[in-house]
Amino acid sequence: MIQMQQIHKSFGQNNVLMGVDFEIGDAEVHALMGENGAGKSTLMKILTGVHEADSGNIFENGEPLRFKNTKDAELNGVSFIQQELNIWPNLTVLENLFLGKEPTKFLGIIDTHTMKLQAKALFQKLNIDVDLNQMAGSLSVGMQQMLEISKALMQDSKVIIMDEPTAALTNTEIEVLFNQIRKLKSEGVSFVYISHRMEEIFNISDRITVMRDGRSILTSATEDTTTSEIIKAMIGRDLEHQYPTRQYNQGVCVLSVNKLYSSERKLKNIHFDLHKGEILGFSGLMGAGRSEIMRVLFGLDKGDIQVTLNDHVIHINNPNRAIQNGLAFITENRKEEGLVLQDSILENISLPALKSFSKSGFLTERTMKDYTEKMIQRLNIKGKQDDSCIDLSGGNQQKVVLAKWIATAPHVLILDEPTRGIDVGAKREIYQLMHELTERGMSIIMISSELPEIIGMSDRVAVVHEGNIAGILEKDDISEEHIMTLATGGKINETV
Ligand SMILES: Nc1ncnc2c1ncn2[C@@H]1O[C@H](COP(=O)(O)OP(=O)(O)OP(=O)(O)O)[C@@H](O)[C@H]1O
Ligand SMILES: [Mg+2]
Repeated sequence: MIQMQQIHKSFGQNNVLMGVDFEIGDAEVHALMGENGAGKSTLMKILTGVHEADSGNIFENGEPLRFKNTKDAELNGVSFIQQELNIWPNLTVLENLFLGKEPTKFLGIIDTHTMKLQAKALFQKLNIDVDLNQMAGSLSVGMQQMLEISKALMQDSKVIIMDEPTAALTNTEIEVLFNQIRKLKSEGVSFVYISHRMEEIFNISDRITVMRDGRSILTSATEDTTTSEIIKAMIGRDLEHQYPTRQYNQGVCVLSVNKLYSSERKLKNIHFDLHKGEILGFSGLMGAGRSEIMRVLFGLDKGDIQVTLNDHVIHINNPNRAIQNGLAFITENRKEEGLVLQDSILENISLPALKSFSKSGFLTERTMKDYTEKMIQRLNIKGKQDDSCIDLSGGNQQKVVLAKWIATAPHVLILDEPTRGIDVGAKREIYQLMHELTERGMSIIMISSELPEIIGMSDRVAVVHEGNIAGILEKDDISEEHIMTLATGGKINETV
């Protein structure tokens, strides 16, 4: 019913879309896939009036279609849940939900009672348990994402565009979301679903379109295609082994964390060791406390903790101390905590490294440029050294953050969901990079909600359940079943 034909769009010298065809049929879930920077978000921004195409046509049932902005699109039944969350942190959950479309009573008085009833009904349907009067900024990233989704589902939309909707959702939340999508679809609603998660795409979509370098190069019914065909269309080559293999023999203990308690949250007496050259996975359900443990360790959150690093007791009470001691932490909130958006790729990547090393003369500007160039090539960052990070696609911004922290050459690198929102080709490259870093003696802690990634990459896995480490699985014991058992509060039987 909506057709986009031969869409072209350039930003200055950068030809981002070069003749894209895309259509959204009645009551279908149409997945849109492609590498980071392929132009997916830009295409949807053109449909919803955020950007104007340089050329090309958009029709709805044969009639020309053009929205002035997202608000106009929304009023005409096309909702867009953008990749970057649009939450107002200082407004309540209820206010966010109804912003700009509050139901009114006589004389235009806002009808809070009706708002609350509607919100409660919606949240119940979506299985969301949240205080309507809570400030939206205090919600977890996952909850904020559910709030965004709720906003779109509340509209009477005929098309809902979701750009990476599940990046911060738990598996249960994803299941609830998928049930809603299926239900709305049966009522005639269509979806555009953008995601890098292959299982999701095959689970929820009816049709898949793949973009590469600003062109649409494949459209197929989901049941008529395969993961490898999609990957090949995305990156232009086969990708055989998603997880590279390597040999690892446990090294000496580098970092020992003991008696970790948090003052705000529920962490109780956490202890674990990390060895030289090891990749220690942290698994568990969202909200179990994985990120909180690392935040206390890194001095971002208050808490009690005893840390020894290479047999020396160290005291970390703020992130600077952590960095001085050779720790680096790539957080979940990369956009907020990781980048100076208006600065260039080069500046962002070299800043922390030059700060920590320039005194010793170890890193010069020249080597930083070389390093930055190497990272742009390896991680396939769609941008040049001097480009400002603000215009990079979501996934490419994340790659910059990753490169920036690796440049500080830490002893211990903590990665929180390192490949979230990153395309399959670059994912493989990040895994390879992690191996190379450990071979050089770096130790890595990796939090991930993707079980295949945890299983494919970790030497040992710590499973967190309700603020405790429920168990640490050795290499041979790592399996989906064992992780899920521990993550949900169960015990692994003796035969293991
Ligand atoms: N406002 C802008 N100004 C300049 N360049 C832009 C702008 N918006 C996007 N670009 C460029 O357009 C290209 C496509 O970006 P887009 O955000 O559409 O990619 P994407 O396919 O959504 O990628 P991701 O999977 O990382 O989200 C990128 O190279 C990006 O740098
Ligand atoms: Mg995008």
